[in-house]
Amino acid sequence: MSKFMEKNADFVHKIEAEIIRLTSEPQLSSDQVVAEAIRYSLLSGGKRVRPALTMAIAESLGTVLAPELVSLASAIEMIHTYSLIHDDLPSMDNDDLRRGKPTNHVIYGEGMAILAGDGLLNMAYEVLFDLCTKRPDLINVCRLIAKEAGVHGMIGGQSMDLTEIKLSDQDATFDYLIKLQKLKTGGLIKAAILSGYYYAKSMLNSDMFTSELEQLFIDYADKLGLAFQIRDDILDVISTEDVLGKSIGKDARDDKLTFVSLLGIEKTKLFETKLHDEIFEILDKLKSLSVKIDFISHFTLVLMHRDY
Ligand code: IPE
Ligand code: IPE
Ligand code: MG
Ligand code: MG
Ligand code: MG
Repeated sequence: MSKFMEKNADFVHKIEAEIIRLTSEPQLSSDQVVAEAIRYSLLSGGKRVRPALTMAIAESLGTVLAPELVSLASAIEMIHTYSLIHDDLPSMDNDDLRRGKPTNHVIYGEGMAILAGDGLLNMAYEVLFDLCTKRPDLINVCRLIAKEAGVHGMIGGQSMDLTEIKLSDQDATFDYLIKLQKLKTGGLIKAAILSGYYYAKSMLNSDMFTSELEQLFIDYADKLGLAFQIRDDILDVISTEDVLGKSIGKDARDDKLTFVSLLGIEKTKLFETKLHDEIFEILDKLKSLSVKIDFISHFTLVLMHRDY
């Protein structure tokens, strides 16, 4: 295993240990079916990209992997998993495969899947409130997560996604789609990246944290969030169920507005390449401001070229 893969494995290991702890007795009592439904989705794999980003960004700025950072990252993974459970519901994308297993509502029923999502969201905020009790200086980071996961972020984007703008509609423009993707997927990725940044800023209190550095991380987060969803849209067309762990061809089935449906696969790939170049330009600038970019550059590359 390369040293980069080892580092990511270490992040994933830390996150998994924390979410197992948070969803075991006594934190989560097993006397309700909803607890089982929560564990089913949260502990069924997943790449753990968002919490890994939080930890990697904080580390790139010189912090160590303290338990508080792992808590912050775990809360983001809980919010992400809730969003997937709800995204798969019959009233949303109506999907029956997720992380290589039947979706939550297929196993537990639609009502229970809604509750499992709600339960995870509340647990995430319990974790964040506990964190702020110990570290009041992190209150703005927690607020940012709530905002980016909410109507001004992920939920807003999901709302646009459900609005069923068809390709033939005059609203189906490139700019509309950029906005949709930046919110629905970019929101939480931005929260993950900026949480790592603001956590490091509050820990280190160094004059390294200028507004220029902050803006570069905001740009990196915006572009990486967009690139992540574009890749997801491409994989929905070119991948297989076995590799992806979710059903494929569902965007076309549902007549979804995606980069692939709007531009076609070749132009989407060209746009993806342009975005990748822009992301690496930002990483170079971060390097010139003394950010240790080795791992985040490698991780960014892996995410951009992922096949699942
Ligand atoms: C899937 O996210 C949903 C999107 C926002 C594109 P991931 O590809 O990170 O899914 P998991 O967490 O690895 O299952
Ligand atoms: C989901 O986008 C974005 C979320 C906020 C959950 P998709 O609907 O394309 O994600 P998948 O393909 O089902 O994972
Ligand atoms: Mg969806
Ligand atoms: Mg979906
Ligand atoms: Mg998708």
